[in-house]
Amino acid sequence: MEPTRILIFDTTLRDGEQSPGASLNVHEKLEIAHQLAKLNVDIIEAGFPISSPAQFEAVRRIAEEVNCIIAALARANEKDIKAAADALLPAPRKRIHTFASTSDYHILGKFGHEKYGRSLEEKRKTILKMSIDAVTYAKTFTDDVEFSAEDAGRTDIGYLSEVIEAAIEAGATTVNIPDTTGYTLPFEFGNKIAELKKRVKNIDKAIISVHCHNDLGLAVANSLSAILNGARQVECTINGIGERAGNASLEEIVMILNVRKDLLNYYTNINTREIYNTSKMVSAFTGLLVQRNKAIVGENAFAHESGIHQDGVLKNRETYEIMTPESVGIPKNKIVLGRHSGRHGLKVRLQELGYTVNDEELQKVYDAFIELADKKKEVFDDDLRMLMGDEIQKREEIYELDYLHVNAGTNLVPNAVVRIKVGDKIIEESATGDGPVDAVFNSIERALSIKSELESYQVRSVTAGREAMGEVIVRIRSGGKSFTGRGISTDIIEASAKSYLNALNQKELYFKEEPLNKKEQISEVI
Ligand code: KIV
Ligand code: ZN
Repeated sequence: MEPTRILIFDTTLRDGEQSPGASLNVHEKLEIAHQLAKLNVDIIEAGFPISSPAQFEAVRRIAEEVNCIIAALARANEKDIKAAADALLPAPRKRIHTFASTSDYHILGKFGHEKYGRSLEEKRKTILKMSIDAVTYAKTFTDDVEFSAEDAGRTDIGYLSEVIEAAIEAGATTVNIPDTTGYTLPFEFGNKIAELKKRVKNIDKAIISVHCHNDLGLAVANSLSAILNGARQVECTINGIGERAGNASLEEIVMILNVRKDLLNYYTNINTREIYNTSKMVSAFTGLLVQRNKAIVGENAFAHESGIHQDGVLKNRETYEIMTPESVGIPKNKIVLGRHSGRHGLKVRLQELGYTVNDEELQKVYDAFIELADKKKEVFDDDLRMLMGDEIQKREEIYELDYLHVNAGTNLVPNAVVRIKVGDKIIEESATGDGPVDAVFNSIERALSIKSELESYQVRSVTAGREAMGEVIVRIRSGGKSFTGRGISTDIIEASAKSYLNALNQKELYFKEEPLNKKEQISEVI
């Protein structure tokens, strides 16, 4: 029997970006979207346009530039759907993805107001009508409309079937069954899909999609169980990032179907050799590190430590390997550039890593590359990824580090002097601290007359060796919201200063936007 195609709906740029602390700017989203197109995903969910001007702009730019079906999220109301349609306007292939809550938990929690009805029964009727109206309105902009029944995992099957049938009747071409809270078990979720296939009369007129969260670590298993029971689209993210514990990981679903073809008669159109580059790019831009032992893309996924394993793999790879590193795009040999590498060589390598750079950008990255190559002889792929991240961040800088001097040592009170560029102005300040990083952060706060709470501080070396670049990722809390900043340098104190300023830049950009950008308002309905 011919294998059945499973569509891959990537939501890294929407649900993935809802990961605590991860926020991507428009340029980063564009780079990732181009890379997702190279990976050959079927649909890219580019964002939630009504939620902020920056989200709107990112969806519009992706719709303009990226060759793929581009989806935008909208709640089941006209304002959201119109914003999604406007942002998607330039896309030759577009999808409006609208959703309404269907579980009793959500209905009673989010639609508690009397205007939605007095009893649960009345509220359910209101939501059914909202869903039909939303799909009907979305259809006036595009034929390709997806409807999601939020928290379907915990929704009563009778009501769920009614809503799904009505959404298809109104024109939904894809119906999505999210396990929003990651609560269900694989056999239970699979049964839900099988039951929907039985109960919903017009189910053959739409593609069944699933969208699983990973709160119990079952997102991939639940998605797989859904496929076995009739789902033909899976919503997932690179590295499994997403709200709370994340979403189903794209690379795991794809490689399960790929490696276990013997038992699973399904295929995706994913170009698996682009998995590694995509994973690296998403990690570098979001600042969300991939755990070492993560399946498929973790540092250790193909590392054989014990003597017995190494010996076995050397004799025959298949002894301990069920897939090759090359099949997911992990290069066989490390490619190293150095100070004698030219602009052309750098451009080619960046393209191979998935980045698109114009001449002006290339010149900037090249200058940074030469500066780095002077400090450390060998420049690895991960160094280049960091330089690209740094270069992209600089495009949206309000505060820029101009100069830093730190005095620290045994029996010394650490002291830092910083000079920060703010537009045409230069501000200089100094401060002491409990350690050199504390002194730097205190001097930045003094210079900018701000105070924020440091939620987390992480430092790691990007590549091996004493002269390796250090990456610092900080998360700060200010104005009721968290912001993540990244900084890189061969000097980790300088990287710390850069990361703190980067987090402050993110904060400034966020609060410059409309009040609607307030995540509190969005979380009310997601
Ligand atoms: O988890 C969820 O239910 C969602 C929907 C908006 C699809 O992200
Ligand atoms: Zn979700």
